[in-house]
Amino acid sequence: MSLYLPETTVCNGETFEVFITKDQIEARLDLLGKQIDKEFAGKKPILIGVLNGSFIFLADLMRNITIPCEVDFMKLSSYGDEKVSSGEVTELKHIDAKLKGRHVILVEDIIDTGLSMKYMIEKMESLEPESVKVVTLLHKKDATLHDVQIDYVGFEIPTKFVLGYGLDYAQEGRNLAQIYILKDDK
Ligand code: PRP
Repeated sequence: MSLYLPETTVCNGETFEVFITKDQIEARLDLLGKQIDKEFAGKKPILIGVLNGSFIFLADLMRNITIPCEVDFMKLSSYGDEKVSSGEVTELKHIDAKLKGRHVILVEDIIDTGLSMKYMIEKMESLEPESVKVVTLLHKKDATLHDVQIDYVGFEIPTKFVLGYGLDYAQEGRNLAQIYILKDDK
């Protein structure tokens, strides 16, 4: 398998360089999988991925979980094609699975302002799951404005624009197999 692993890349006219490598991501997902295995033993959790950005992280995270588990997706958008959140969450795809009585793990690629995750957590209240936990690959702690409980974090990152491994810039760059940072955003 040949993954897309350039040292630097140009996306929509802007230059990005490697920030979190494939090896670092793999090592962190190995630990997150083990943690989830342990904490959900005997519970068969359902992972709810927040599309689009979470699809690669969720796929790899799930392959690091060895206990029985399920998956479903919800699609939100707050950024459109911009680098700054619009401040409004739009629900573009609803959850199909019945979550009542289930152990839910909400899976995000990134928590920035926290607006999307706040929306997801509030949404869970009406669906009556037994428990709700949150896992995010990336967390921009200094940018988070909404108080949301995050149970598992892959990497705390600075308030800089990042790309790759599911994260896009105007829909491009999701296929990069590592996480990149905007070069002039340092
Ligand atoms: C991104 C990301 C999160 C959200 C995080 O989604 O996937 O869902 O922004 O930002 P927040 O904490 O400020 O809400 P985006 O709206 O860009 O859509 P995408 O997942 O399709 O890329």
